[in-house]
Amino acid sequence: MNRLPVINKLIFLLTVLIVTASCTSKTDVATPTTRKVNFNTNWQFYLKNNATEDSIGSHTKWRTLNLPHDYSIEQEFDENSLAGIGGGALNGGMGWYKKTFSVKAEDSLSITSIMFDGVYQESKVFINGHFLGKRPNGYISFEYDLTPYLKYGENTTNEILVKVDNSKQPNSRWYSGSGIYRNVWLKTTNKLHVNTWGTFITTPMVTKDSAQIKMDITISNSNTTAQQINVQTNIYFKDKKITHFKDENLKVDAQGEQLLTQQITLENPKLWSVENPELYTAVTNIYINNTLVDQYTTPFGVRSFTFDLDKGFILNGEQVKIKGVCMHHDLGPLGAAINTRAIERQLEILKEMGVNGIRTSHNPPAPELLTLCDEMGFIVMDEAYDMWEKPKTEFDYANYWEAWHKRDLEDLILRDRNHPSVFIWSIGNEIPEQWNERGAEIGHELAAIVKAIDSTRPITAAMNPPIHTADPSVTIQFEETADQPNALAGSGALDLIGYNYAHQTYVKHQINFPNTPFIATETTSALETRGYYEFPSDSTKIWPVRWDLVFTEGNDDNTVSAFDQTRAPWGSLHETTWKIIKKHDFLSGFYIWTGFDYIGEPTPYVWPSRSSYFGIVDLAGFPKDVYYMYQSEWTDKDVLHILPHWNWKEGQIIDVWAYYNHADEVELFVNGKSMGVQSKKDDDLHVMWRIPYEAGTLKAISRKDGKKVLEKIVKTADKPAKLQLSADRSSIIADGNDLSFITVEITDIDNVLHPTANNEIYFSVKGPGEIVGVASGDPTNHESFKGTQHRALNGKCLVIIQSTDKAGQIEVTAKAEGLQENTISIKTTNL
Ligand code: GAL
Repeated sequence: MNRLPVINKLIFLLTVLIVTASCTSKTDVATPTTRKVNFNTNWQFYLKNNATEDSIGSHTKWRTLNLPHDYSIEQEFDENSLAGIGGGALNGGMGWYKKTFSVKAEDSLSITSIMFDGVYQESKVFINGHFLGKRPNGYISFEYDLTPYLKYGENTTNEILVKVDNSKQPNSRWYSGSGIYRNVWLKTTNKLHVNTWGTFITTPMVTKDSAQIKMDITISNSNTTAQQINVQTNIYFKDKKITHFKDENLKVDAQGEQLLTQQITLENPKLWSVENPELYTAVTNIYINNTLVDQYTTPFGVRSFTFDLDKGFILNGEQVKIKGVCMHHDLGPLGAAINTRAIERQLEILKEMGVNGIRTSHNPPAPELLTLCDEMGFIVMDEAYDMWEKPKTEFDYANYWEAWHKRDLEDLILRDRNHPSVFIWSIGNEIPEQWNERGAEIGHELAAIVKAIDSTRPITAAMNPPIHTADPSVTIQFEETADQPNALAGSGALDLIGYNYAHQTYVKHQINFPNTPFIATETTSALETRGYYEFPSDSTKIWPVRWDLVFTEGNDDNTVSAFDQTRAPWGSLHETTWKIIKKHDFLSGFYIWTGFDYIGEPTPYVWPSRSSYFGIVDLAGFPKDVYYMYQSEWTDKDVLHILPHWNWKEGQIIDVWAYYNHADEVELFVNGKSMGVQSKKDDDLHVMWRIPYEAGTLKAISRKDGKKVLEKIVKTADKPAKLQLSADRSSIIADGNDLSFITVEITDIDNVLHPTANNEIYFSVKGPGEIVGVASGDPTNHESFKGTQHRALNGKCLVIIQSTDKAGQIEVTAKAEGLQENTISIKTTNL
């Protein structure tokens, strides 16, 4: 699904709506231009530790690049990296960015500011030598007013300098990336304008027939005189204006701020839901003397929801089970540098599996993620922190907590509160203070900060676990304190009790917390390597045996079986937790750790592993087998998936599993001979055959009422012979951002995927495109994600091609020694 047209439509809408106004001398009114322009291109970058802002200018080794940019992902994997293996074994360092630009003379009557969606971390920003400010938090969005320091005129230049300090390591338990890794915007507004994040749309009453829309608008006037304004907000649904609200003759004091509340009833509202994420747009126009001086756009959705003590999550009056996944922010081989299409692809893959929820573990996400979740229909848990006062790693955010936590939390809520996809605020993940009174105090403080800005969404915290349990089967992290009650859970600060793991305690939730609804903030932590299998498949492995013990089991090549049979000691197998969540209505839903593999935290292994095994989808975006268990449970699609592959030793005893739905039985055949019919019993989620291997064809047929639903065939592959290429999109936009994800499969001469081939693959490109990432999903591979070659994992590899701003034909060739090479064409077109 290509969502770019939706974004383009919005851009079109904005362009059409922007009206040029003339200056009036009395009120310092300037022309309203496009408020926000992308400021990503032509930056200079230099990686230099121990430099200062005064000395950095004398260096000559700057290189030109476009943002978003992650300088850690360009570095070599380093076993001794200060970031640690948990941090992805990629060093950070101190990065410097500068950019020169001109500002039109007429803009001197306006306010010009620069907005960063996120800089990891500890950024300091300077304009023309003036220090604008610092922002330690690597995930928060922030803005500086440049106006007082700008030089105006087409022939005059300004220089912005950004220092990024990610040299103090470790400061994260996962891969953070480094640099200006999110978008940057230059904003020009009239002195009379709607504040940044200055609108708040709520829907106090929603039924199928009508909805009340309430909009708070905060308007600032930095003119030296008071202003009389008219404000009109037009509401659009799919480009069509459907209604408006209007306020006339409102006075905003000189250098003052004014809060305006507008209300309207919307008849027959199109409700936002997971299946039909209908979106509205509010365009607020401010006029002085009939001249449009500012325009502010707020996308929003209309929906009602509640977390019910007995029925769980209710959306628009209907029970919806939250089938969510936790996601870290990296985009695999692209590192932390955000790319809208790359996020969209992740969400498409998850949606295809039936996922309807995303937890932004454990930090504020890129704004584009939330926009996509609004458009695609995901129930988002937006999370603020992984730690409060007490650190988890030496140089982490705890060092900045006291000075910054209030501001950072406020800014997160202000920025994200209009997204219809955001349903839950999480104020923290596995916070060590949860076990003592300080946890309760801080919990109350943070809840009050959130409620003061948005009281329409419940607040939770991801606790481990919220209830003290004597059940020895519940493995608890922070065991030294687990015999105490959870002070945060008991504090009354939370609207939802958030469980990390401890699935054994869920059934007693209504007894333990009779007044507060349930959400499983984090579950499962099962482990798999895509395409690797161990037998017998029905024996459970707990790797490592205990969270605080050194891992001594495992395989020499750091693999983990892709049968759902291995888990971290604090977690569960995939099937175990889903069976519980599925069974009880009061269990609103869960967020599985994790949707995709991420860089860092390679539990259960350490080096040479450098990325996680928790993903249902691997780091390259290739689903592991358990993906299809969820798909068979969570989607309407007919599903029949069989595993493992069919290349074993003659006579070896093999377990064959089938995930299926919409059928009563599955029959398995080897070379035409039936291996028997199997049916899921009770709450089973798969069926299994234990059979001797015989090379040839494995075939499964699912049947309902005796009629065939699906047939699946897996053949024994002969030796690797060819490379086959397929692109997720063979036509992309020539905008310098868009991506085509090309999958390489190593097959035998008859096009059968070779399930264990791991050839080194070399890529080259001709035409207006470049290779921006390579990956295979192998957590132990140390080749650069930014290179042009990569070793395949179990028959598959990925290369990511990015367009330039020229339209044309890109030819991508993959070669490997001894294999037939292949080329694929990607077209790039102008908008
Ligand atoms: C959780 C933690 C996550 C991740 C996960 C791995 O306890 O919240 O950030 O570390 O464990 O299983």
